[in-house]
Amino acid sequence: MSQAAMTLSERADELEEQMMHELNQKIATKSVLFGMADGKVEIQSGNDLLAKNPGKYFLMGADKRLPEMPEKPTLIDFFQRRFASTAHLLQSAKHALKNGLSEKTVLACLLHDIGVVSFIRCDHGYWGAQMIAPYVDEEVSWAVRTHQALRFFPDAAAGYAYPEMYLKLFGPDYRPEPYI
Ligand SMILES: [Fe+2]
Repeated sequence: MSQAAMTLSERADELEEQMMHELNQKIATKSVLFGMADGKVEIQSGNDLLAKNPGKYFLMGADKRLPEMPEKPTLIDFFQRRFASTAHLLQSAKHALKNGLSEKTVLACLLHDIGVVSFIRCDHGYWGAQMIAPYVDEEVSWAVRTHQALRFFPDAAAGYAYPEMYLKLFGPDYRPEPYI
């Protein structure tokens, strides 16, 4: 069937089949992190995977299971294609903006939970900071790293009270681990 004669959904089906075919030519591996969510600490060896997939190579570069990124992605592309949720980040940055805070603070608010929405929940301040450190001012990545711990310490001088919600979420006795 010619492209012109196909309906939109037929074209979508064909594209999906083409993508699956391309994926079938490559071995897409899973990181250890993937299994940890099910309590498994294990990794498939490269040789085992090659033996199970004769004639195929490992998938390198862009992963076609994910929405395609432009050649030179900017932050907005990550917001649109790689973040599972953006409302909390946008709301936080909007508050900072409305209160006339500095551009650095607005950016830190916009990125503070980037670890949670795109990578990992535990120690998300640390991991989020690692992701952005090469691209932002040091103060911004510092703020992202430390918010994970500092949010548990009320600061009257800064007008920051301990969030009621944290009592419900983490229990009344929760204190961050010293390493955090
Ligand atoms: Fe956070």
